[in-house]
This record gives sequence, structure tokens and C-alpha cells, in this order.
Amino acid sequence: MAKAIGVDIGGTGIKAGLVDLEHGTMASDRVRVPTPAGASPQDVLQAVQTVLKTLDVKDASLPLGVAFPAIVKRGKTLSAANVSKEWIDFDAEKFFRDGLGRNIVFVNDADAAGVAEARHGAARDVRGFTLLTTLGTGIGSAFLNDGVLLPNTELGHLNFREYESVETFAATSAREREGLSWSEWAERLQAFYSHIEFLFSPDLFVVGGGVSKNAGDFLPLLDLKTPIVPAIHRNNSGIIGAASLAGD
Ligand code: BGC
Repeated sequence: MAKAIGVDIGGTGIKAGLVDLEHGTMASDRVRVPTPAGASPQDVLQAVQTVLKTLDVKDASLPLGVAFPAIVKRGKTLSAANVSKEWIDFDAEKFFRDGLGRNIVFVNDADAAGVAEARHGAARDVRGFTLLTTLGTGIGSAFLNDGVLLPNTELGHLNFREYESVETFAATSAREREGLSWSEWAERLQAFYSHIEFLFSPDLFVVGGGVSKNAGDFLPLLDLKTPIVPAIHRNNSGIIGAASLAGD
């Protein structure tokens, strides 16, 4: 069975697992540590070293994919919303490659989740345009047309009403911070999704992030023209997608 390791660095947690590449499923338990406060490159690297050590994969030749919550272009991180500003214009891929002492594939976290869902999840065999969003500390987005990824869309940073970034208004972190009920939060999601539905006319919305396990509490409250479904791999999509891309 071909395998690879996926690491998903988020604003709140850093998760890793071994992935079965053929089926696009977890081949180990998921290992998680909290994202270090401030999320500086050095501290994040150390946390990634810890999860990899805990994962205890003996085979050092396995492909390793790392997903990160920022714009990633040619191995560089170009933005930093819920992590240290040191990541802006930072050669992150090289930093991890040197720090971990092995080759890696480095991608945006929502793009990784999108690839996982397109290859092995809710958007598998879907023709046309799938728009995946992750609702977590921030809002991430992935555009997939006939399964082909258009990387680095950043819909969580759309200006919205008085908010510079819509993620401040509608992410899971906003629901938790403001103690919103499911229906109060769903009103915000309604505003967000109907806006991006009008802008991009997707054929399918997929909703990822940790809250996708509670999809039954809020997705039925939304009124959209486009079908909207939870990510099949829930919060493991980032791990699975990163591993899958590393295995290519
Ligand atoms: C970042 C994105 C990321 C998303 C989800 C946003 O704040 O700008 O790059 O995909 O959070 O983690």
C-alpha cells in the first residue's frame, strides 16, 4: 500500500497522520498538538517535529506534504492572517526542508483540503466548479474545476460590510468568540455563501474544517441555489490532501 505523511498546520492546531494514497484515507491515528502562541516559524517547526516524532514513522523515504494557512507561491508564504507576520515573504518550504532534514511538498491548507475532497471525497467525479471552504480559525477556500485546482484563492479575506475580512465575521472562531447559536451563525453563513454564490456560480459547495462534523446543525438552515455538502474527510482533508500531493 502506497503511503505518505500529511501535516496540516492550522491557526489553532497542528495535525498529522499517515495516509493511504490509493484510498485517500487515514492509515494511522491522527496526532495533534496546539499551535504555539504567536505561531512563529521556529516554534511551528518545533511543533511539526513533535507531531512527526509522535507519529513515529520508521520509513524516512515516505513523501511528506505540509499544509499551511497562508498564500503559498513557489514555496514562499506570502501572507499571515492567524500566524506570525514573520511568515510574510518567507521561504517556508526551504525552512521546513532544512529543519526537518527531508524533502517536502508545501501547500495552502484549504487547497490541500480541496484536493483531498476532489480526489477522494465529496467532490469526487463532480463535473464543473466545486468551491470548497474551510470554516475554522479563518476561512479558507479552494477552487476546483473538473477536479483541477486553481490555487491560492483567499475568499476568507473578501471585504464584507464593516469587516476587512469576512472570516472575522463568519469563521468558526467568530461563532465561538461571540457565543453565537447555530441559527445566529447560519445567518452569517447565509450572507457569506449567497455572496460568493453570486460572484462565482459554483456547481457544488463543500464545507470543511472541524465544524463540518456538526454540518447537520447549520447546513440545513442555509438557503442557496447550489448544493452544499460537508467534506467527507471532515477535518482530516488537509492532512489527506497534503499527503496526496506529496505522493504525486
Ligand atoms: C488564510 C488562508 C487559509 C485560511 C484557513 C486564512 O486566514 O489567509 O490562507 O487557507 O485562513 O486556514
